[in-house]
Amino acid sequence: MSRVVVTGRIPDAAIEKLRAEHDVEAWDGPETITREELLRRVAGADAIVSLLTERVDAELLDAAGPQLKVVANVAVGYDNIDVPACSERGVVATNTPGVLTDATADIAFGLILMATRRLGEGERLIRSGQAWKWGMFFLLGSSLQGKTLGVVGMGGIGQATARRAKAFGMDIVYQSRSEIDPTIAAELDARRVDLDELLAVSDVVSLHCPYGPATHHLIGAEQLAAMKSSAFLVNTARGPIVDEDALATALREGAIGGAGLDVYEQEPRVHPGLLELDNVALLPHLGSATVETRTAMAMLAADNALAVLSGERPPAPIA
Ligand code: DGY
Repeated sequence: MSRVVVTGRIPDAAIEKLRAEHDVEAWDGPETITREELLRRVAGADAIVSLLTERVDAELLDAAGPQLKVVANVAVGYDNIDVPACSERGVVATNTPGVLTDATADIAFGLILMATRRLGEGERLIRSGQAWKWGMFFLLGSSLQGKTLGVVGMGGIGQATARRAKAFGMDIVYQSRSEIDPTIAAELDARRVDLDELLAVSDVVSLHCPYGPATHHLIGAEQLAAMKSSAFLVNTARGPIVDEDALATALREGAIGGAGLDVYEQEPRVHPGLLELDNVALLPHLGSATVETRTAMAMLAADNALAVLSGERPPAPIA
């Protein structure tokens, strides 16, 4: 039996699966585990099942000890994991791609609708108790049909968002490190362009690239200035891909039409400049938040950990 430490609450089915074979210690406090407690608990662990709220760095890996074999992140994004530090110690790092693609694309598209059709503003107005009535020019938004969606990062989630946009009658351009499968490009009628062109032609820019040094503040003042003044920016990927100071300024000054955010630079803190604005829809990192999706993520993370502990290749190693 190996020792598995789970750093936060995950669905019971995944805990049971791990418990059937190993000794499992799972943090189930109402708050996120403190760093101090985490460093103490991982000592002697053979596997760590981590949530994106926990930083898995050299300090944590060393606190676990040389017997540690696997860090199984319950997320597709793994910017919370120092992957080179894992590799240097012979620890396999894994993530959960695929299982949250549709859920996250749904939220991206939900934010596109919230931002372009001013849904949050409408909801806030009703709840405020303010008087309102139907009017020809009341809370007018922008239509999506015939407009262009620019997808930054055309992996699974970017493609799934593009597929939804296509069903809404949008044209698709994308920027990605590589061409996508030609069959999918043809199905979506999607054209690969560079970021400059994407920013210039898109009516909605949706971010789906991973976060890392290469994408830190990929969208800053210069990129926001390059967008159409009527365009919308949507971020369901990771907060620090966008320079929030620059975004708050652009939204306040009307340099872009609006934005929809599910993720934040210093999550869970939301930039105070954004909180003051009506032309930004704000969600609390709900991309993968469905019962089915979170269960599938936790089960895949459990499968990843179990595979490594039994000396097999895990289903989703981080390359
Ligand atoms: C992920 O898996 O990276 C998502 O952000 C979780 O919601």
